Amino acid sequence: MKKAPDFEKMKNDGLPISVITCYDYWSAKIINQSNIDIILVGDSLAMVMHGHKNTIPATVDLMVTHTESVARGATDKFIATDLPFLSYRKGMSQSIDVVHRVMEAGAHAVKLEGAAGNLELIAHLVESGIPVIGHVGLVPQSVHMLGGFKAQGITDENAEYILQSAISLEKAGCFSIVLECIPAILGKTITDRLKIPTIGIGAGSNVSGQVLVLHDLLGLNSEFKPKFSKQYLNGVDLIKCALNDFDDEVKNGNFPTSTHSF
Ligand code: KIV
Repeated sequence: MKKAPDFEKMKNDGLPISVITCYDYWSAKIINQSNIDIILVGDSLAMVMHGHKNTIPATVDLMVTHTESVARGATDKFIATDLPFLSYRKGMSQSIDVVHRVMEAGAHAVKLEGAAGNLELIAHLVESGIPVIGHVGLVPQSVHMLGGFKAQGITDENAEYILQSAISLEKAGCFSIVLECIPAILGKTITDRLKIPTIGIGAGSNVSGQVLVLHDLLGLNSEFKPKFSKQYLNGVDLIKCALNDFDDEVKNGNFPTSTHSF
């Protein structure tokens, strides 16, 4: 299993880092057999697994339950879990209780969104031995403040804000930072300025690694095809085909056969 310090070494050695979201036991078992470097139990699970419109309804209990399932399946992978909406904004002591639960559930690191107001907590967590991933650019927990899921860092002023946020996250002790939906040129600038690796999603190719949502990669959500994502499988059609094959065989009497019977 790769560990937190290995990722900065990968950046220094010019080895790109692959990160994939995962929320459950069976897909964790498959990812465990792959070459993927990091699993992210993202709060995107609120949308992907539970059908919400954004990540705000993700709760600590939900993140803990999904992290436990992933940890049971992906025993050889580095697992990072998102701290959900507002769970790290209620004061140091309550925030640490949340991190404690997530780490007990099987995470090896936590991820949180934004720099402003989070730096003291990050420094304390890092001092306490907990690897932390930052997240700047499109920070989905602030969807209402941002006015929707929109690319960030378009104006010079906002690009500078994102760059300074990334620098302050590195100073606070983050071992990596997710850059979401920002111009490729800004992704490169931040990656060049930081020692720690950057993980992009819609941040161009000049970053230290890439993260995708598993269900987007597998084509399991036919209504959602964001510009930054790439579909590597037509999961919906493959699964529909298998289900219809089963349905056909039940109806035409070809399943079960004697080999499936006692
Ligand atoms: O919640 C999530 O899945 C994420 C990634 C898309 C970076 O934060």
